[in-house]
Amino acid sequence: MNVVVIGANGQLGMDVADEFARNGDEVRRLTHAEIDISSGDSVHRVLAASRPALIVNTAAMHHVEQCEQNPLQAYAVNALGARNLAIAARQLGAALIHVSTDYVFDGAKRQPYLKGDPALPLNVYGNTKLAGKAFIQTCTEKHYILRTSALYGRNPCRAKGGRNFVELMLTLAKERDKLRVVNDECVSPTSTAELARQMVVLSRTGAFGLYHATAEGSCTWYEFARKIFELMKVKVSLKIATANEFPAKVSRPKYSVLENNKLKTLGANSFRSWEDGLRSYLVSAHHLN
Ligand SMILES: NC(=O)c1ccc[n+]([C@@H]2O[C@H](COP(=O)([O-])OP(=O)(O)OC[C@H]3O[C@@H](n4cnc5c(N)ncnc54)[C@H](OP(=O)(O)O)[C@@H]3O)[C@@H](O)[C@H]2O)c1
Repeated sequence: MNVVVIGANGQLGMDVADEFARNGDEVRRLTHAEIDISSGDSVHRVLAASRPALIVNTAAMHHVEQCEQNPLQAYAVNALGARNLAIAARQLGAALIHVSTDYVFDGAKRQPYLKGDPALPLNVYGNTKLAGKAFIQTCTEKHYILRTSALYGRNPCRAKGGRNFVELMLTLAKERDKLRVVNDECVSPTSTAELARQMVVLSRTGAFGLYHATAEGSCTWYEFARKIFELMKVKVSLKIATANEFPAKVSRPKYSVLENNKLKTLGANSFRSWEDGLRSYLVSAHHLN
């Protein structure tokens, strides 16, 4: 299959391109320098030349504070960009895989969100991602939209300046004797390698629609940090903090755990527990044995 990956030098995009290539697909990797998804002309010109059977969009403006400061730009990339890709996909007869976020929910449910639960984003980022989903759903039938959460992977996250949470914790543990990590925000940390594998599995089904796609189970950031140090046998004094101690300029959900209910109904859920995903990451990134 001819696959185009957009955002191909991003944290997720690199793993996605590698995973499709590993599975025998012909992969064209497109970076921001080659395609600007917020421009309909750019999208049409570049994709028409590639004639893909599948377009995978991992590109987004997802730095939450920057989205809040530049809502028009965030809307242009996350909402209109998704629309541009959906229109191009329809015109070319291609399927579209698009990545969305747990931040479309406000966190009030305090139980894993099902894909049909009403979304109520707390910030510009979440709102623009929600609008992107709506555009795709109305512009092309052949779409898979995957909502995911708290990504970490071997490649640097470009929007967040490189280091993922795992690497940040390991670095801080070397620099400080004591660490304080919030214990009142609950997520499902998801490895980009596992999400990439899930995309390949889903792309073979033809079962289009909206999916929740995260590692199984959930934890607080404190519990995630504790597991990282336990697996890596790092000795550091780790203390519980509350989110209030680190006042944020932008509201975020305190609970954004997603339930992969539609993947499970389809018999296509390839995610393992967040602990197993973390162990595999540490094996590959830090030679954990
Ligand atoms: N990271 C997380 O924790 C997380 C959680 C939930 C969902 N997500 C979603 O997962 C996806 C991938 O995130 P990631 O962690 O891989 O981010 P990333 O490393 O920042 O990669 C995003 C990529 O998008 C590109 N890009 C930005 N604006 C673009 C535009 N207008 N046209 C074309 N390309 C553009 C960036 O290129 P430049 O850097 O050159 O601009 C970069 O290559 C995003 O859709 C994000 O919303 C992420």
